[in-house]
Order: sequence, then C-alpha cells, then structure tokens
Amino acid sequence: MDVVLVGLPGTGKTAVGRRLARQHGAAFLDLDATIEAAAGRPIPAIFADEGEAGFRARERTAVAALGPPDPSPTLSRVIATGGGTPIDARNRWALYRGRLAVWLDGPAEILATRLRRSRVSRPLLAGRDAESAIAALAAARERVYAPALRVNGVAPLGAVVAAVERHLDDALGPGGGLLRARTPIGTLEIGDGIAAAGVARALDGLAARRAILVSEPKAWSVAGEALAAALARDGIAVETVLLPRGEPAKTLRVIERAARELARVRAERRDPIVAVGGGALGDAAGFLAAAWLRGVPVVHVPTTLVAQIDSSIGGKTAVDLPEGKNLVGAFHQPAAIVADVATLRTLPARQLRAALGEAVKMGALGDERLLDLLETDGRAIAAGARPAFDDGAIAEVVERCAWAKVEVVVADERERGEAGGRIALNLGHSFAHAIETVAAYRGILHGEAVAYGLRAAVRIGAELGVTPPARAERVEALLDDLGLGVRALAIRPGELVATLAVDKKTAGGRLRWVLPTESGVVVRSDVADELVAAAAAGIVAGRRGATPDAGRGR
Ligand SMILES: NC(=O)c1ccc[n+]([C@@H]2O[C@H](COP(=O)([O-])OP(=O)(O)OC[C@H]3O[C@@H](n4cnc5c(N)ncnc54)[C@H](O)[C@@H]3O)[C@@H](O)[C@H]2O)c1
Repeated sequence: MDVVLVGLPGTGKTAVGRRLARQHGAAFLDLDATIEAAAGRPIPAIFADEGEAGFRARERTAVAALGPPDPSPTLSRVIATGGGTPIDARNRWALYRGRLAVWLDGPAEILATRLRRSRVSRPLLAGRDAESAIAALAAARERVYAPALRVNGVAPLGAVVAAVERHLDDALGPGGGLLRARTPIGTLEIGDGIAAAGVARALDGLAARRAILVSEPKAWSVAGEALAAALARDGIAVETVLLPRGEPAKTLRVIERAARELARVRAERRDPIVAVGGGALGDAAGFLAAAWLRGVPVVHVPTTLVAQIDSSIGGKTAVDLPEGKNLVGAFHQPAAIVADVATLRTLPARQLRAALGEAVKMGALGDERLLDLLETDGRAIAAGARPAFDDGAIAEVVERCAWAKVEVVVADERERGEAGGRIALNLGHSFAHAIETVAAYRGILHGEAVAYGLRAAVRIGAELGVTPPARAERVEALLDDLGLGVRALAIRPGELVATLAVDKKTAGGRLRWVLPTESGVVVRSDVADELVAAAAAGIVAGRRGATPDAGRGR
C-alpha cells in the first residue's frame, strides 16, 4: 500500500513521511526532492528560471512517474507531496485513487511560526506575511485536501505518525475522492466511485436515518440500486420512488404521483430526497423536494455529464407544461451534490459529446485551462473512449465546469441579471433556446443546440468588435474538432429569427446577448436585427454544409 501525505507548507509532510516509512520498513519519496534531482537545481531556482508554470509541469511529470498504486495490504511506500501538488486535478486523480491519502492539517499561526524558523525557502510565500499567506492558501486549497483523511499535523511527531498509522487498517481510506467543498449552495463532492460514501456523509450531516431515493429506470440500474444497497448496509432505511426516464419525468402529473407515494410511505421533513439520475430526473426530484411538506433536503447524485457539470448545481428545479419547458419550478438548493464520475462510464457517446457544448461554453467564459483540456482530450471524451475515463480527463472537465458554476451561482444566486452574474451562463443560450423551440425539442440535444448558439455568439461578437477574431476562431475550431454545431440544421433561419423576436417581446423589447471577449463575456442589448439574421443564416447553413442535424418530424 502507498500512503500519500498532503497539506500546507509547514505541516511536516517530510518529517512524518520519513518516520512513518522507517517504522514500517517502507520506501520514502519526497516529491519536491525528486523534482529537484530531475532538474539538477533547487526549487527556488526552478521558479526563478521557469516560473510557477514550469515548476508545476515538472511536478505533474514527477507524479505521473510514480506509476500505479501498490495494491498490497502492507505499507510499501510513503509519498510526501509539495503543498501545491494536489491543486492540479490530474495529480489528485493519480495520487488519491488506490492510495491512502492523508491530509496533515494545522492552524495558520502555528504553521507560520514553523515556516519562519525553517531554513527551506518557499517561493510562494517569499516577501509576504507568513500567517496571512498561509491562511489564504488554506482557504483556497481546502477543497483539494479535504478528500484525504484529515490528521492534526501540529502535534508532536510521534503522535502524528501514530495518528496516520491508525488509518493504515482502513485499507484505502476514503478512496477516490477528488474534491470536497462546503459552499453556500450545498456541499460539492466529486470523485471516482464515491457515490455511496458521499451520500452517506451527506445523510450523516443531515442527521438522517431514512432516505427517499428518487430515480428512473436507467439511472437506477447503473447507480441507484447499488447506492440503495450500500446505504441499507450502513443502517439507513431506504424508500425508493421511480419516475419515468428522461424529460417525461418533468410533468406535474408525475410529481403528483410521486408526492402521493411519499404520503404512502409517510415521508417526513427530516427524510431527505436523494435524486439519482440525469438533469431531467434532478429537475423533477428537486422540484418534488422543494414542494413536499413545503421543502425537504435534497441530495443530488447526478449520473449524466450535463447533470454533473451543470444542472445539479445552482438550485433551479422545474417541470414542463404543454405550453413550454421549465415553466413551473422553484429555487431549492441541495444539501449536497455527489458527482461520481464512475457513473458516466455507461453514458452513450452522443450524451457525452452534447454535454461538451456546455463545457466549451464554460471554457469560453474565461477558463483557459478548460479550453486547453478540451482541445487535447475533448475528442476522446466525446467518443466515451476508455482512456478519457482512466486518465482523469473527464474528471477534470467535471471539476472545472462544476466549480466554475458554483462560483458564478454563489455570486448571483437568484439571477439578478447583472453582467458578470448568473446571466453569463446564458452564453450561447439565446439561439440554443430558439433552435430547441423550433425543433420542438426533437432530434437535437440541449448541448448540441448550445454549440450552434456559441457559434452565433462569437460571430456576432466578432462583428461588433467585442470578440477578438483569434478567440472566435479558437471556439469555432474547438467545436469543429468535437463535431458540434457542424451540420446544417433542417430549419429555416426565419423561424429562428421569429422565435427570438417572441423572446425579445417577452423580455420587454430588449434581448440581452452574452458575447465572448478576450477572456470572459459582456452583456449587450444593442445587437442589430440584421446581425442576428445573418448569424441565424450562418448557423443554419452549418459549418460544412453537411446533412441536417435537427428538424421537425423526427
Ligand atoms: N436545473 C438546471 O439548472 C438545468 C441546467 C441544464 C439542464 N437542465 C435540464 O436537464 C435536462 C437534461 O439533462 P440530461 O442531459 O442529463 O438528460 P436526461 O436527464 O434526460 O438524461 C438523458 C438520458 O440518459 C439516461 N441516463 C442517465 N444516467 C445515465 C447513465 N449513467 N448511463 C446511461 N444512461 C444514463 C437517462 O435515462 C436519459 O435517458 C433537461 O430537462 C434540462 O432542462 C436543468
């Protein structure tokens, strides 16, 4: 077994690791020392010559060189990481899965005192007040350390080592957790194979002894059933309510039937609803949770890529009416969101590819690393290729998108409509909504429609001089590569324009266009009708004039 020690500078990862390894006859590896040996220079010199980016690249190489975890039950290797090593999602993917990850933690003031006395030079703290710098690092990094087992690192060395040793019998400890964050809009956990442990933790936090698992047949077979069994093994009483699969779950009739089922099993206010499924299931179960007994806690276990990167976060719940989608709903924030990327392995490739329309949007909002990632790994993800799961590419996309959405929603929970707030998430959605309406939601998935909308937005933005041509080209080339928004649409541009005109009327005569800039978005209400019409004609014609992608009658 490998033990991995993570934590802030000054928590004693090297000293604890060395002692632990010696006591067990295990090998000890100090990641920083490995990086220095490979570079032939100390870390401050690497920072000076190559900047932090150069150092992080070397660090990632060193983590990858660790190879696969040792599955044997006896301790064979102790790995002490650098304080910032787990910031990189792929490093966490490599370090936390199959290894016992331990977080040495301690109060900022004690760590600062230790660092002041230390002879080791720390480039990230140079020239700053140690205590406030450590406190800032602690706040920023808690979510990446938190999936590891937390141990007090500021006790005497022997006591810290003994505390780590007590966990050696837990075999792989929490295993597979990649991110855990308490946020004002619910606890967010992301990981590989964490559904049961994450939900158990959430129920524990709610002091619940019974849970109402709401799912649909497909999500039940890929995730719900095993989750119910694991919770039952944990002593939780589980009731199950199955809704229809996909969008048909989002009707008032279904909600009424489900609520009557809750009445039958006498579900109480302290019995949380655990919603296991894609975005449609989550919207319906979330609405049920908002309405049942005027609101019970909900834990989301999203099982599609759309749900993990988007719909499970933000507290919007809704059902559809014959008059339109999402017309009846409520804001109801979840107690927790447990995104287990292992559940995505059964998702059809088309669903994965379509969700990447939303991921490209999140990248275009200003996440350069996400754009890079989609450029290198997007195709493999879109195809549902095994390596994209095995090397953590999908997990990283989930993490970057989900965290970005948390940040946007926390800043503007109720969508006040200000630039920089939740409205930014509407990038690409004016046209997407129009396409879906004209196609009557048939033959095209939401993320596919968003891809066309994104193309329209960058073209309008480029015409207005808002979107730099290189940015527009980058977004379009990425969509080309992913095969999104490429084909001609079997609808007339005039129909799109007419639908947008209706939206404009509803919005009081001002359609607010979210348009990409060099590194983010702006909101403009002054986009000329001719520009909109030209964009409509452009996206309907398709990037390559290929076969139609959506249309009525299908
Ligand atoms: N609330 C929000 O903020 C928000 C945001 C975006 C989208 N949405 C809503 O989300 C819905 C779309 O979500 P979606 O794309 O997840 O679609 P979906 O929920 O309809 O799921 C798509 C299909 O995947 C199946 N499925 C689910 N998990 C699976 C798995 N692990 N393996 C294999 N198949 C699986 C489902 O049975 C379904 O047939 C729409 O109703 C949309 O309005 C809501």
